[in-house]
Amino acid sequence: MTLSLIGLSGSLRRRSYSTAVLLTLRDVLPDDVRLDVRSLEDIPLFNDDLDGEDAPVSVVALRRAVAAADGLVVISPEYNHGMSGVMKNALDWLSRPGMNSCLRDKPALTMTASPSALGGVRAQQQLNETFIATCSRLVIRRQIVIGMVAEKVMDGRLVHPPTLDFVLEGFRDLRDVCG
Ligand code: FNR
Repeated sequence: MTLSLIGLSGSLRRRSYSTAVLLTLRDVLPDDVRLDVRSLEDIPLFNDDLDGEDAPVSVVALRRAVAAADGLVVISPEYNHGMSGVMKNALDWLSRPGMNSCLRDKPALTMTASPSALGGVRAQQQLNETFIATCSRLVIRRQIVIGMVAEKVMDGRLVHPPTLDFVLEGFRDLRDVCG
């Protein structure tokens, strides 16, 4: 059976390393795994007043896509030791209505990437904490932190085979969680 996944990158940057990792994975995953990489560009700043029946179209579409998917793959850069505001904002929208959102019970694999040696590990801590708050099924495994990412991405693709293998292990673990 095909595994249908949604991929979200916390960077809107055209030459983003984080997005490059997701796009590489999309291209190399086995035929029975489909990774739909969605941009967060159109997601407005979270405002509870805008939510409800008239929620922004982009938010409704993303919620529907996540609800229909078997699992979620998120990668964020680290900004000032936290996940990017773009990622946190999207997760806040997806987390509503609280305790009954499209994130509830949704398998989620988290990753971070950074040009520094630490690979955004502090941002990943926050990501994981957020998925605990949303009652998602966080994939518990060795953390996928991609350090020195600038040396591992070329022309918008991850070109470092050991890193790619390591990340693909994470997908196998995600598949196990999806059941
Ligand atoms: C950064 N960067 C950064 N890197 C890091 O490892 N830890 C950090 O705390 C920060 N803080 C930070 C704050 C801000 C505002 C910016 C713009 C950048 C560097 C960051 O990892 C780098 O710009 C990445 O290339 C961003 O990810 P994308 O866009 O390549 O996916």
